Amino acid sequence: MSTALSAPVPHHIAIVMDGNGRWAQRRFLPRLAGHKQGVTALRRCVQACAQRGVAVLTVFAFSSENWGRPAEEVTGLLDLLALALSREVPQLCKDGVRVRFIGDRVSLSSRVRQGLEQAEATTAHNSRLLLNICFNYGGRWDIAQAAATLAARGEPITEASLNAAMALSGVSDPDLLIRTGGEMRLSNFLLWQSAYSELLFSDKLWPDFDEAALDAAIADYRTRERRFGKTSEQVLAVPSPSLPA
Ligand code: FPP
Repeated sequence: MSTALSAPVPHHIAIVMDGNGRWAQRRFLPRLAGHKQGVTALRRCVQACAQRGVAVLTVFAFSSENWGRPAEEVTGLLDLLALALSREVPQLCKDGVRVRFIGDRVSLSSRVRQGLEQAEATTAHNSRLLLNICFNYGGRWDIAQAAATLAARGEPITEASLNAAMALSGVSDPDLLIRTGGEMRLSNFLLWQSAYSELLFSDKLWPDFDEAALDAAIADYRTRERRFGKTSEQVLAVPSPSLPA
């Protein structure tokens, strides 16, 4: 690993926004208050990423497994999504942010689905930052749905065809994957796409993850040597200038 800031700013950052519940509990507040503060942290992070030249931000907002949480919290998160969409879309447009939802929409209510589709349509022409919101998403679900799509079409299953059938197709894999909240696991997030992502685990709870924390994460990323299976010598080798004949 080199310590110089040699790599560019990550093109694509992915984040597991963990720690909302603990943030609220430490203040003797209901968990939903932590999720609301999580929306504020997400707004701050989106703007900071756009200002720093990050092109794609992918966040885990609701996993396929989150349906198992207490009904009150699930309903609260769905309502929060609907509210956040209606409130945030004008500012997202001002900031040049395009929103895309990644996940299983079929099992969402038509009210939630319409809200997602409207936000996608309204922001479709923005091009400064692409914000992928993973909602009712799981990495295993994505791999399985991609395989099922290919099988239904009778197409061969290869790395390239699976990649193209994934919900996140069309964007390059995350360069940097951040998880806040102190846990060190992927929790079924971007299992396929994170094969060569640089992982960064922050002890900060998501509502406390501010611009300084983002800058520290990007600075750490920029010291990493990305080898993609090659050797350090191969990665560092600079093509030698051709000698005169
Ligand atoms: C994990 O924290 C966080 C979630 C399950 C929800 C993430 C949602 C937001 C950040 C709100 C913004 C998203 C939208 C668009 C609605 P946790 O509840 O597992 O926290 P804990 O580990 O401290 O219990």
